[in-house]
Amino acid sequence: MTLAVVILAAGKGTRMKSSMPKVLHPLAHKPLVQHVIDTARSLDPSQIVVVYGHGGDQVREVVIDADLSWAEQAEQLGTGHAVQQAMPHIKEADRVLVLYGDVPLTSAETLRELLDQAGKGMGLLTINLDDPSGYGRIVRDDKGAVERIVEQKDANADELAIQEVNTGIMVFPGEKLSGWLNGLSNNNAQGEYYLTDLLAMAVSDGVSIAVTQPEHQFEADGVNNKLQLAELERAYQRLQADRLMTDGVLLRDPNRFDLRGSLTHGTDCEIDINVIIEGNVTLGNNVKIGANVVLRNVSIGDNTVVVENCIFDDATVGADCTIGPFSRLRPGADLTGGAHIGNFVEIKKSVVGLGSKVNHLTYIGDSQIGAGVNIGAGTITCNYDGANKHTTVIGDNAFIGSNSALVAPVTIGKGATIGAGSVIRKDTPDDKLTLSGGKQVTIENWKRPKKQPK
Ligand code: UD1
Ligand code: CA
Repeated sequence: MTLAVVILAAGKGTRMKSSMPKVLHPLAHKPLVQHVIDTARSLDPSQIVVVYGHGGDQVREVVIDADLSWAEQAEQLGTGHAVQQAMPHIKEADRVLVLYGDVPLTSAETLRELLDQAGKGMGLLTINLDDPSGYGRIVRDDKGAVERIVEQKDANADELAIQEVNTGIMVFPGEKLSGWLNGLSNNNAQGEYYLTDLLAMAVSDGVSIAVTQPEHQFEADGVNNKLQLAELERAYQRLQADRLMTDGVLLRDPNRFDLRGSLTHGTDCEIDINVIIEGNVTLGNNVKIGANVVLRNVSIGDNTVVVENCIFDDATVGADCTIGPFSRLRPGADLTGGAHIGNFVEIKKSVVGLGSKVNHLTYIGDSQIGAGVNIGAGTITCNYDGANKHTTVIGDNAFIGSNSALVAPVTIGKGATIGAGSVIRKDTPDDKLTLSGGKQVTIENWKRPKKQPK
């Protein structure tokens, strides 16, 4: 038996109050529907069909995936009608799992369990809620066997009291599905073709129905508005935080941690509060990340300490560095190891050699800095002439005095010293002191101006 997954994503999502289709709203930086697609993919299906409607072109642009099939549902006539639109893609031998583009956090384990229990029959994922309002209720007979689902708007008082509800997630045997769908009517309170009516059809056809439940309620939660989106974001973040802590990462507060991508780590890493991790981030062993740090597509070597309030983007940091507070590493920053980068230092597309120090108020761009270099406070590599970018090369063990401007293209020799306040426009020799600027003079008989009487 092959598995086909149908993802319903045709709803408008009016309550999001957004021009973006609901299923494209991001959870941990990934569109809702992409979460569902990724989970579906992990079940190794023979195909995934996305049923789209409102904003479908936008959805197809964002979700670029050659292996997806798309089925348009031009008019939203109900969940049964939506699945019907996918049927041209479905084979009789398929088992058909129905998921929802706005229910992002159903776990693969939960779905596997549902599929296992369903076997060749039908499977239904339900959940028990203290407040079941809005959901379809699971009606069971006096022996406890499921009979049918009744939607909230069609339910009588007894049925409304039922707390077991339909999550919407179901699996059907493909050989029965199209017949059942063709038998649907829209003779109900909403005038819709209800997918949920298939349950009673399965019962009357003698098809077995397995009912399973997810471990967490949020696995069944859909997103209808931004409040629910934020709630699911927190649930997802907490899940990831718990997994990291189980794996040995110390999070000072798992409720103040956001991972929007993937984090690979060694042992004994510590992450303080309000850290945001995006894209692919790798931490070596014993890495400490201070509060309010943003790491985006970064790798950080063993024993490196990142102090508070740093932002790193597409950067590579070696072992044994100390960085921050308030340091910014921009794309192409590459710290070889043992570097000290201090406050209000910006580094872009530059290599900083072993053990070099850039401690205060400095811009380093398009530069090759050797090992053991000391860059004084307020140094600027002037890499841009208004039209083109140029390279600054600083040899090993050079010392750049504070408030120097190094006008690229320029090379500072190995072991060279640059006097404070210099503007260096030409290459400087190894092991020598180079200064620029006028001589220091003292003006005799100079008086401070006095305030003029009115
Ligand atoms: C549906 C179920 C209900 C269940 C609830 C769980 C039916 C008839 N009812 O109700 O038993 O408790 O979900 O949340 O299935 N969609 C389409 N095309 C359509 C209609 C819906 O793609 O024509 C998509 C929507 O985008 C949405 C999902 O299907 O993602 C559910 O649709 P919605 O109208 O919200 O169903 P509910 O009334 O909540
Ligand atoms: Ca709904």
